[in-house]
Amino acid sequence: MNKQAHNIGPIGVFDSGYGGLTILDAIRKKLPQYNFLYLGDNARAPYGSRSFNIVYRFTLEAVKYLFSQGCNLVILACNTASAKALRNIQQNDLPNIDPTKRVLGVIRPTVEKIGEISRSGNIGILGTTGTIQSKSYDIEIEKIHPKFNVFSQSCPLWVPLVENQEANGEGADFFVQKYINQLLNQSADIDSIILGCTHYPILLDKIRKYTPSHINIVEQGAIIADSLADYLNRHPEMNIRCSKNGICSYLTTEDEDKFNSLASIFLNEKIDSKHIDL
Ligand code: DGL
Repeated sequence: MNKQAHNIGPIGVFDSGYGGLTILDAIRKKLPQYNFLYLGDNARAPYGSRSFNIVYRFTLEAVKYLFSQGCNLVILACNTASAKALRNIQQNDLPNIDPTKRVLGVIRPTVEKIGEISRSGNIGILGTTGTIQSKSYDIEIEKIHPKFNVFSQSCPLWVPLVENQEANGEGADFFVQKYINQLLNQSADIDSIILGCTHYPILLDKIRKYTPSHINIVEQGAIIADSLADYLNRHPEMNIRCSKNGICSYLTTEDEDKFNSLASIFLNEKIDSKHIDL
């Protein structure tokens, strides 16, 4: 066995808060044998309205922390971090930190998949202010599906609703309907809406309620899980560096009990997280 094969660790999954749990859940269903280490920077969420430099700095801190815990591969299960930090980390930081480690995002795999889902090529994107302003979806869609039309709407109050445990409250209805109407008012031809923020599936029931039934609502969980499985198949040198005992651990920068109670509801199992400071 070569030296690198001994250097194994969990796959890191990072989000600003609870949203990445929607990705983790799908990944674990697809790849149950792998070990995962989830990190939610709940104390500093939401990231969505923060500047480019702050999102980059916070994301880099989280990635470095996950590396220090033995992760060789980290998934940014956060569109805002994927939009604002991924490229910098891949191109400028990884070569200095450890060129054998990898960080992957969620935007590119989602854009690759949308070609199979949309019939008309008229795509709606819902995301945080940061993701929408970065135009990351527009840029990626233009590269892969140049004939598609993209309509975008930021939803600045959706992440705070989730992080503050109001996703199922009556107040959420108003803001869910508001942003969906603002998106659909841009075009009557949208046939698919990408939930371009990993928190949004937590609002799915309400999103469905206010979206006409002929429109596809595209969640990222299964897409990212398929894409990760494909990546590990294509990269055996990384696959052998991922530990496989079916164990999943959780870190949060907020209060452990607070994280445990909400994460347990989302994942439908008992969660025992550990507090860390970044
Ligand atoms: N889950 C993050 C995303 O996918 C939410 C960002 C935030 O914290 O505002 O964009």
